[in-house]
Amino acid sequence: MLATSDPETGAFLPESNVRDQVLTFLIAGHETTAALLETTLHYLAADPDLQNELRAEAETHGGFGYDAVIRMRRTRAVLNEVLRLWPPVSGFFRVARDDQVLGGYKIPAGRSVFVLALAAQRDPEVWGSQAQDFDPERFEATRSREFPDRFFHPFGTGPRSCIGRAFALHEATLLLARILDAYTLGGVAPLRMYERGTLRPEPYTLTARSRHQS
Ligand code: HEM
Repeated sequence: MLATSDPETGAFLPESNVRDQVLTFLIAGHETTAALLETTLHYLAADPDLQNELRAEAETHGGFGYDAVIRMRRTRAVLNEVLRLWPPVSGFFRVARDDQVLGGYKIPAGRSVFVLALAAQRDPEVWGSQAQDFDPERFEATRSREFPDRFFHPFGTGPRSCIGRAFALHEATLLLARILDAYTLGGVAPLRMYERGTLRPEPYTLTARSRHQS
């Protein structure tokens, strides 16, 4: 980015743009997936049966290659459920192009609206009376049609939704499968979340016992 110029105009990226790109790499590309993994590992460490289920799934698909990872649907359902309850990016802004009325509120052209995915993803009218419970079954193929897609937006929506979605989900699935293959997790205190840029657990410790050393 610093050394390459536009082949047509010869112009270099302004330093402010390079700075913004670096921030995007760090926050959008790294911080979000790290937050998702931290929260997911917490749920897994508290649930040995769920760990075993995900291990069994990974073993069924044999290995950690690309094709095996995309078939790890149960692991993906666990990640989706964590994204529903604790979306690392709790919402996103949209700007009204024209005057609008939204849920009875007048939104003048040019005004920003923050779409709080965190609230929509826990709305009991959509997700049922157990909306606050951690239940990865919701995302099993047979049940995922029970809720309308527009109430699940951890990656935003529309043409400016997250460009890294597929990468992030693949990376997170692969990492979880590898961690569970190598370790048995446990020993966590109750989950406590905070938001500072992303929504993530307060620093916590867990125990990781190697599964392959005697
Ligand atoms: C669990 C991981 C991630 C979550 C929860 C997440 C979430 C989001 C959300 C909510 C948005 C705003 C979308 C909107 O306004 O509709 C966004 C945008 C974006 N994300 Fe992610 N993201 C994740 C991972 C990544 C990764 C790994 C990358 C890069 C490799 C990335 C790059 C971006 C970029 C560049 C944008 C701006 C897209 C645009 O403005 O057109 N994200 N992300």
